[in-house]
Amino acid sequence: MLITERVDRAARSIRLGGLVAIPTETVYGLAADAENLDAVARIFEVKGRPTSHPLIVHIAGSDALGAWAASVPDDAALLAGTCWPGPLTLLLPRSKRVSDAITGGRDIVGVRVPAHPLTLELLDELGGGLAAPSANRFGRVSPTTAHHVAADLADHLDPKRDLILDGGSCPVGVESTIIDCSVDPPQILRPGGIPTDDIEQLLDGRLDQGSGPARASGMLRSHYSPDCLVVLADDDRHAEELADEARNDGAVVSVIDRTDDLVTAARELYTDLRRADDDGVDVLVAVMPPAEGLGHAIRDRLMKAAAEHCRDRPSRDG
Ligand code: TXA
Ligand code: MG
Repeated sequence: MLITERVDRAARSIRLGGLVAIPTETVYGLAADAENLDAVARIFEVKGRPTSHPLIVHIAGSDALGAWAASVPDDAALLAGTCWPGPLTLLLPRSKRVSDAITGGRDIVGVRVPAHPLTLELLDELGGGLAAPSANRFGRVSPTTAHHVAADLADHLDPKRDLILDGGSCPVGVESTIIDCSVDPPQILRPGGIPTDDIEQLLDGRLDQGSGPARASGMLRSHYSPDCLVVLADDDRHAEELADEARNDGAVVSVIDRTDDLVTAARELYTDLRRADDDGVDVLVAVMPPAEGLGHAIRDRLMKAAAEHCRDRPSRDG
C-alpha cells in the first residue's frame, strides 16, 4: 500500500478514479471524486458499509458551498463563515450536482471544509468535491493516523489505484459535529469536534438537541467498536472496582482515565481503543468525562463503543 506525503500523487489517483485516504483535523477520510459514481461505489465496498449511509462532501472553502447546496439558510451561512475550515458538517438541501449515491437517496447533503493543509491543497488542486466517510471498516474504530488506515484497509484497497496521503496524527481526534440546517431550528445530529455549546451560542440558543430516530450511521447505538469489551465508569474509584471485578474473572484489563484534559482525551481516544486490542486487552474500563465541551463527543463515542452489538466478542473468561 502506497503511503505518501505528495499531494500531486493523491490528485492523480483521484483523477484516475482511485480512492485516497485523506488526513483531516478530525479523523482520516476515505475519499473519492464526489462526481465519479464508480469511485464512490468503491468507498462502500472497501468500508463494507451499507449504501443507505450517506457520505460527507468535503470542499475547499465556503465559496464552493453554492455548487453543492441548493440553498444556504442564514444559520448555515453563519456557521460556515465562523467554523470553516473546521470540524463542522452542515446538512443542507442538495444541488443537482449531488448524486443519490452520496446521499443514499436523501434530498439533503452533508458538506464540510476540513482544516488540514494537505487536504485543502488537494481540494484546491482538484477543484471539485471529495466524498469521504471515516477511513475504517464499517462500525469499527475511526483512524487518526496513516498507520491506522493501513492496518484497517490495506487488504481492501487496490495498491495500483489507491493510496494513503500521510498528514501525520489528526489533532482533534473525534469526528465533526453534524448540524442539520435543512430544518428550522437547526438540529444537532452528532456531537463532535466543535462543542455543542459553541454552536448553540452562535445560534443564540436556537439549536434542537434532536433525539429522534437514527439519521446518521454514527448515531446507531453501537459503533466505533474495538474487539475488547468496553465498560464505562463514573469516576476513578468506580473504574478500579470494575477493573478488579473483571480481573477476578480472569480478564486482561486496562483502564483509561483522561478526564482531566478533554482536548488530549479526544485526540487520543481512538488510539487508546486501538491500543487495547493490540495489547490483547479483554476488558477496557473507560472513565466518562464530564458532559461539557468536547466531553459530549467523547461520551457519545465511548457509549457507542460500549454498546452490545452483533459481532462475537471475546468472552470475559477467555
Ligand atoms: O469528521 C468527519 O466528519 C469525518 C472526516 C473524514 O470528515 N467524516 C466522517 O464521516 O465521520 P462518516 O461517514 O464516518 O460519518 C458521517 C456521518 C454518518 O453518520 C452519515 O450517516 C452522516 O454523517 N451523514 C452524511 N451525510 C448525511 C446526510 N445527507 N443526511 C444524514 N446524515 C448524513
Ligand atoms: Mg465513521
